Amino acid sequence: MAKIILTGDRPTGRLHIGHYVGSLKHRVQLQNSGRFDQIFIMIADAQALTDNWDNPEKIRQNVLEVALDYLSVGIDPEKTTILVQSMIPELTELTFYYMNLVTLSRLERNPTVKSEIQMRNFETSIPVGFLTYPISQTADITAFNATTVPAGEDQSPMVEQAREIVRKFNSLYGETLTEPEIMLPDNKASMRLPGTDGKAKMSKSLGNCIYLSDTEEDVKKKVMSMYTDPNHIKVSDPGQIEGNTVFTYLDAFCKDEYFAEYLPDYQNLDELKEHYRRGGLGDVKVKKFLNKVLQEELAPIRARRREFEKDIPYVYEVLKKGTEKAEETAAQTLLRVKRAMKINYFEDEALIRSQVEKYQK
Ligand code: TRP
Repeated sequence: MAKIILTGDRPTGRLHIGHYVGSLKHRVQLQNSGRFDQIFIMIADAQALTDNWDNPEKIRQNVLEVALDYLSVGIDPEKTTILVQSMIPELTELTFYYMNLVTLSRLERNPTVKSEIQMRNFETSIPVGFLTYPISQTADITAFNATTVPAGEDQSPMVEQAREIVRKFNSLYGETLTEPEIMLPDNKASMRLPGTDGKAKMSKSLGNCIYLSDTEEDVKKKVMSMYTDPNHIKVSDPGQIEGNTVFTYLDAFCKDEYFAEYLPDYQNLDELKEHYRRGGLGDVKVKKFLNKVLQEELAPIRARRREFEKDIPYVYEVLKKGTEKAEETAAQTLLRVKRAMKINYFEDEALIRSQVEKYQK
């Protein structure tokens, strides 16, 4: 069986370094590993509208921003098909048929949807479009016959929902759809980065993100004001590494060679941590080092972004081509689905013939 990846993002903002260590970096590795027959990355604008219906302009702007971020981290349109969800009507059609296979209570039990409903204060009036987006996401996954969905832990309930729908569809209508599997990040290669303020998650609304598209000065400013160990007041005080955002970021980005270049008093991160724990190492020194590390990591991404920014029509062309290519696959899946469900009346000559006979008697 062909190994096919589908994954995606909601275009609600520019992507940040949390996305980078949590998923983008991994996607580029998967893309370049040669282990997959096809890779689709979806800009899930229709899904983003399920909780941003009142602000389509935001989504419209961010479709391009996300595309620029993809290209700048090394997603290569020659190897990966980048597509825009809303431009593929077959996905909506699949969603409508899958809706018959899911109960309301099953949707309401989905832990990710549940917590998102809480976060958005939707409890008293849940928009139907929002509640049903896991079904639409199943259409996304199955339309491209995805075997593999690289995503974070929070997407497990979505992939589980997709697997249930696939099994139900196949048992009702015959083997038609591919059952996907989630591919979770292994915790060394990718991790969830906290915000610069030490809060569990980077989020635009909290203003604690470092964006892939931030300028050198922005990054520096954000690093120098980062949350560290609040009890590490004097340089001589012993410091704590756990929960110390500066060290969490170093865990994610630092390589030994950066020490030789920028902080030759230490061989590696373990030595630096040891000194910090012992006392006598100031936050400013560690932050300056982190800034160097981040600048090294982000400079090539930023430079590539600048190049693509000079040719925005090209970026739209990439999206258009990818979407067209993806739609061919989605259309084939929809045809298989309709045949399996026996809603392919006009192409079914046997059906027409049998009814002719029925009424000739
Ligand atoms: N729900 C995903 C998120 O919030 C985005 C997404 C949409 C997605 N369609 C997908 C992820 C299909 C994986 C597969 O990040």
